[in-house]
Amino acid sequence: MQGKRVLLGVTGGIAAYKSPDLVRRLREQGAEVQVVLTSGAREFVTPTTFQAVSGREVRSDLWDPEAEKAMSHIELARWADFVIIAPATADFLARLATGQADDLLTTLCLATDAPIALAPAMNRLMWSNPATQANVATLESRGIHVWGPGEGDQACGEVGAGRMLEPTQLANYVSNSIAPAGQLAVPEKPSKAIDVSDTGRPRSPITIVVRASCPRTTSPSSASTSMRRPCASAAASVNWSSLVLSLKSRLKRASGVSPRVES
Ligand SMILES: Cc1cc2nc3c(=O)[nH]c(=O)nc-3n(C[C@H](O)[C@H](O)[C@H](O)COP(=O)(O)O)c2cc1C
Repeated sequence: MQGKRVLLGVTGGIAAYKSPDLVRRLREQGAEVQVVLTSGAREFVTPTTFQAVSGREVRSDLWDPEAEKAMSHIELARWADFVIIAPATADFLARLATGQADDLLTTLCLATDAPIALAPAMNRLMWSNPATQANVATLESRGIHVWGPGEGDQACGEVGAGRMLEPTQLANYVSNSIAPAGQLAVPEKPSKAIDVSDTGRPRSPITIVVRASCPRTTSPSSASTSMRRPCASAAASVNWSSLVLSLKSRLKRASGVSPRVES
């Protein structure tokens, strides 16, 4: 992740106390990290903590003329190579799913074309509520990654699904999602010629090869791009199909060609 720009959004959940550690883990892997806090997040954690661990001024207010002069919300949205919201509250999921832009973080998310990942964290009943589940389904259908939540003891004293994944795990997912330079590159002028496979179905000249990192690998062809699927327990909490969906739509946007997926 050397030199990659990660925008970390922190929303108002109890798990926000883990987010400074996520900044550290991302920076350990070479990323530059810009933190954006919602007003809810500021009830749990202070900008000073994030400024200290990120080495950058923390942004929070959409209506801050000084900050907007330095880097507007649109420039911030363009700056990011990857956006991760951790923790993501039920409220934030709802606002993002309905396309609201009522604060700096939701506005950024609408204005960026960088991949977005959410690490939900909330009470187990908030998580299983049909409204939250419908919002998650909507977000995933748009190619937004939803990582977690994990299961276990909750801050409210209950036990169940709703825990934010651990910072180390999230940092590794970000790192796996930001491919090394060149790996995700789409050929500048991909051939639009459609060749026809044995089955008679048109075959895309661009192929996404999903590699199992342990132990089998598939050799990608020259017009292909590859992703490493984390193995065993790590894979269980990644929504792999949404990751592939997102890559597919980015490749299609960049090339005008709908990629084929091989696994
Ligand atoms: C003590 C306390 C803890 C909270 N913890 C959570 C939480 O873990 N997850 C969640 O979704 N909402 C939680 N909430 C509710 C959110 O803070 C609230 O919905 C807020 O509007 C979220 O705003 P934001 O997403 O813009 O930060 C909590 C509220 C309080 C008062």
